[in-house]
This record gives sequence, C-alpha cells and structure tokens, in this order.
Amino acid sequence: MLLPVYLLILTSLQPISAATAEQWRGRSIYQLITDRFALPSGADLNACDPGKQTWCGGTWNSILENLDYIQNAGFTAIWISPVNQNYEGPRSAYGDAYHGYWSADISKSNDRFGTPKDLKALSAELHRRDMYLMVDVVVNNVMATSTAPDFSKYFFMDKSLYHPYCRIVWGNETSEQECWMGDEKVPLPDLDTRNPTVIEQYGEWIQNLVKEYSIDGLRIDAAKHVQMDFWPKFCAKAGVFCMGEVFGGLDVEAVAQYQGPQALDSVLNFPLYSALVEAFAIPGPQNVTALAQVFDESKKKFTDTGLLGNFLENQDLPRWHNQSVDPQSLYNAMVLNFLTDGIPIVYYGQEQSFSGSNDPYNREALWTSNYEKTTAYELISTLNQLRNFMVNSTGTGWLKQATAILTTSPYGIAVMKGEIISVVTNIGSPPQNGIHIAVPTPYASSTATTNILTCKQWAVGAGGMVDVEYTKGGVPVILVPTTRLKGSGICDASGTKNGSAVASSDSPRVSINLPLISFMLAFLTFDMRAIL
Ligand SMILES: *[C@@H]1O[C@H](CO)[C@@H](O)[C@H](O)[C@H]1NC(C)=O
Ligand SMILES: *[C@@H]1O[C@H](CO)[C@@H](O)[C@H](O)[C@H]1NC(C)=O
Ligand SMILES: *[C@@H]1O[C@H](CO)[C@@H](O)[C@H](O)[C@H]1NC(C)=O
Ligand SMILES: *[C@@H]1O[C@H](CO)[C@@H](O)[C@H](O)[C@H]1NC(C)=O
Ligand SMILES: *[C@@H]1O[C@H](CO)[C@@H](O)[C@H](O)[C@H]1NC(C)=O
Repeated sequence: MLLPVYLLILTSLQPISAATAEQWRGRSIYQLITDRFALPSGADLNACDPGKQTWCGGTWNSILENLDYIQNAGFTAIWISPVNQNYEGPRSAYGDAYHGYWSADISKSNDRFGTPKDLKALSAELHRRDMYLMVDVVVNNVMATSTAPDFSKYFFMDKSLYHPYCRIVWGNETSEQECWMGDEKVPLPDLDTRNPTVIEQYGEWIQNLVKEYSIDGLRIDAAKHVQMDFWPKFCAKAGVFCMGEVFGGLDVEAVAQYQGPQALDSVLNFPLYSALVEAFAIPGPQNVTALAQVFDESKKKFTDTGLLGNFLENQDLPRWHNQSVDPQSLYNAMVLNFLTDGIPIVYYGQEQSFSGSNDPYNREALWTSNYEKTTAYELISTLNQLRNFMVNSTGTGWLKQATAILTTSPYGIAVMKGEIISVVTNIGSPPQNGIHIAVPTPYASSTATTNILTCKQWAVGAGGMVDVEYTKGGVPVILVPTTRLKGSGICDASGTKNGSAVASSDSPRVSINLPLISFMLAFLTFDMRAIL
C-alpha cells in the first residue's frame, strides 16, 4: 500500500531511532510498571495497596523525572507497560486496568499515563541519555467483562475479526492460539490473527506507533498464543527489535522454537529463569544439574543466546525474595543473568529486594523504598558497569563469546564468558567451613585477577586453578584479569571501586551501609595467594 504523502513528510521530520536486534544485544534493561514506578511530585506517597488492583498514579512524566535512578544503576534501556487505551468500564472482578494489559482501542494512547506529548518527551529524554525505549504490546487479545462483549468500542470493531469464545485446553496448541485467555469473569477476546484484515491493520498500527513515539524495541505479550508466522511480518512492519513472551519452564526446545526468522528476534529466557530457581532459591531443590543442562541445551537450540532476555522477576511471577529470603541467593543468581549470554533485565523493585508473591502483590509501589541505594542496587550498578565496559571496549566481541561452564558442584557453578569468570554459589549467607568450589581456568598460574565485587586482587594458582572457599558465607565472585580492567573505572589502583559500590574488607570505611557483601567475603585461598 502507498503511504499518503502527508504521512511521508511527517515521517521524515520525526527523529527516528528504531533499534535493531544487533543494537539491543549490548543493552541492559530496567522493566517497570508505569503505574507503580514513580509518582508526580506532591502526590500521596502512602496510598498504594497492590492488593486493591487499582491505579496508584504513576505516569510517563514521572518516569522521565526519575530516570537518574535507573541510569545511575547503569541501565541503558527501559521497558514500560503497554501504552494504549485500556478497558475503562466498571471495576472488573480483578480490579482496574492499572497494569496496561487490558487493551481496548489501541488507536488511542492511555490517558491514565499522560498525554501523547508526555510519552514523546519520555522517549526524547531517553534518547538524549543514549538510552532505549522498549514498549510492551498486547496483540493476541483485548479484554472484556463477558464472553459476548460489544466490540464497538474496540479498535477491531467487527466480531468476525475475533475467534469465537472457547476455553483454552492447555497442551492443545490450536486451542492455546485460538481460544480466549483469561476466564469467564475477565475474558480476553482472542483476535483472529490469520485474518488478512487483522494482519494488515495490526501492521499499520505498529508501524505508526513505533514512528510516532520513536520506540526502539517491543516486548510482545503472550507471543506463543499467536501463530508463529504472524510475527516476522508484524516485526518487519515495526522495524525494531522484538522480544516475545513465550511462557515456559526448563524445556529449552519449547521456547527456542520461537526465536529466529520464522518467529521473533528474541524471547524471554524462561528456561534460564526456571533453572536459576532450581539452583539458587533457598530453601529449594538446589539442583545445579538443571542449570548446567539449560546452558548446554540453550547453546544448541536457540539461534542466538546473546539476544535472549534474562530475568529473575516480572509482573507475572512471584518476586525472587518471595521464593527465597536469603539475600545471597538473589545476588548469586543475578550475576549469571548479567555475565552469561543474553540481555539482562531487572524488574523494578528487585533492586529493593521486594518480596511480593504472585500478581497483584508483585506490583508494589516503588516509592515506598525511597529509591535507596541498597546493596542490591549497588551490586546491579557494578554488574552493569562491568558489562557496559566490556560492550563499549570490545564492540560485540565480548557479547558474542559464548558462555562456557568451567565446573559445576553441588554448591554452585563457575562459568566463563570471554575473559570474565563468575563463580556463584547456592549455599546462602551463613558461613560454611570446608565448602569450596575448585575452578579450572585457562589462565596461566600467577595471572593477576581482580574480584570486581571486592576489588581484591588474586593470583591464579598452579595449573590454572582457582579455589573459592566460603568460610564467610556464599557470596558471588567475579574474576577479571587485572590488566583488562584498565580504563574501566572499576577497582582502580587504590583498591576501592569508584562509586564505592561494594567494598572489600580492607576498606571498611566505604562499606558501612553495605554489610552483607562486605562482611561475607568469599576467601580465595588454597591454590591462590593474595598479591595485594
Ligand atoms: C484442539 O483445539 C481445537 C480448537 O479448540 C479443536 O478444534 C481440536 O479438536 C482440539 N484437538 C484435540 C486433539 O483435542
Ligand atoms: C535435577 O535436574 C535434572 C535436569 O532437569 C533432572 O534430570 C534431575 O532429576 C533433577 N534432580 C533432582 C534431585 O531434582
Ligand atoms: C510471599 O508472599 C505472600 C503473600 O503476599 C506472603 O504472605 C509471604 O509472607 C511472602 N513470603 C515471603 C518469604 O516474603
Ligand atoms: C557505554 O556505553 C553506554 C551506552 O552508549 C553509555 O551509556 C555508557 O556510559 C558507556 N559506559 C562506559 C563504561 O563507557
Ligand atoms: C575514579 O573517579 C575519579 C573521580 O570521580 C576519576 O578522576 C578517576 O579517573 C576514576 N578512576 C578510574 C580508574 O576511572
């Protein structure tokens, strides 16, 4: 179809910064619920109860006003809630559409979150900061309060453009794609995404949305509930990176089939998430075998592990600390999300160690935290700093070096991506005498390495061995050849970190508000000797 002339002119005047998969590979994403991240100044800070399932008042403009909190932690992109008009009728059985996933007329923007001008300003401010905007989109379905809704208020007004109502029979792929998600109280009418009119109108809609707001990437809700061949055309119209939600578990194949030219650029890494829960949630099964298997299978079955979205929490899952109260379990699992293949994603509130259970309790108001620079926040900042440095100094070089497993043990796993070795453990905070992980590395004996979480330097032992003991508790250890850190601003010569993120026991003055990591240092002994 030919574009009308006025649209072409408009288009050429818009600052377009649509980003490709290749440009997203090196990014680090902060996922937030627009309604819950920040309030406009002067609003009542105590009024948000997630259990009430209603709007708490966050807006696009209040995100803009609080971008420092995100950027200072080293994130280079944000993922926000869907931006289009939602259901606005009487309160439903599951409350109001504060989360943005209850699409109605997608040709309009969601005025609960501000004006189109506000969203454009947010996009422009992100780009000014060299950050990307990822917008969540819901394509599979709309929302209704009965199984026989009046479609005249929706973008797709004709009943024939929807599949007829049926209840999903899970495990039957056709049924999962054609029947309606939700339930009888809040059904989610399912678009007939094989209908040429639906395909064409969705294509034009997404093309305009991306252009209008200079969106850099899309997170696609419920992607596996739409037939796979819908996505390549849809994402080509969008012209930006597409990361789909393909809800799944440890089964790599089930999720991996949705990545590639036949479907999407990227999918959320549910297999890694599931394996990390198995291996690191305390108390839990602590099954490291599953984690090693997922790394191994992922390498074989995904077309590009470097584009997967790695996460530990999201708006549909119980928070990590609802499954595992030990802070070290979160820190150790998080290290693997940042320093193995994939794009790290942190769900707002994870850096504040929130502990809400399932929806709606995992959608807490962030302002109750006072945006403190917690230990988790500082750890995230350090991980982003290291990853950003590797990205900036090697182009895609480091990103494209596949993660290798150096060793597994009942107590943890050691992996290497490029020059970075991460040794993580599931033993938790209490000190453990006699527990250690012996890691064979490719480094020559006596190579100077720095544990970037303490800034202590350590020499590699005989035969390239590194041995991590946990006499002071199960902290993660990240070793980088010391010479490699030159110019990174991480662990400069004085032995402390710029920004005082996580200090070593040698500099307790810097660590007063960071008790957990600083007092529970892993001691690297055995085959290693301290050279500082
Ligand atoms: C799967 O679901 C579809 C759509 O509801 C239905 O037509 C089909 O009979 C189901 N297949 C089986 C094997 O139950
Ligand atoms: C650990 O995970 C592997 C791989 O998923 C599985 O085969 C094994 O049964 C699990 N072991 C336990 C004790 O759960
Ligand atoms: C998990 O969430 C539930 C419900 O909000 C709560 O009762 C429980 O205490 C939480 N568990 C932890 C460990 O925080
Ligand atoms: C790396 O690049 C990002 C994105 O362009 C930038 O925001 C960041 O400041 C750079 N970081 C370093 C350590 O150079
Ligand atoms: C650490 O920060 C100081 C001042 O903020 C700066 O002058 C110095 O260059 C930084 N160190 C490194 C190694 O980047």
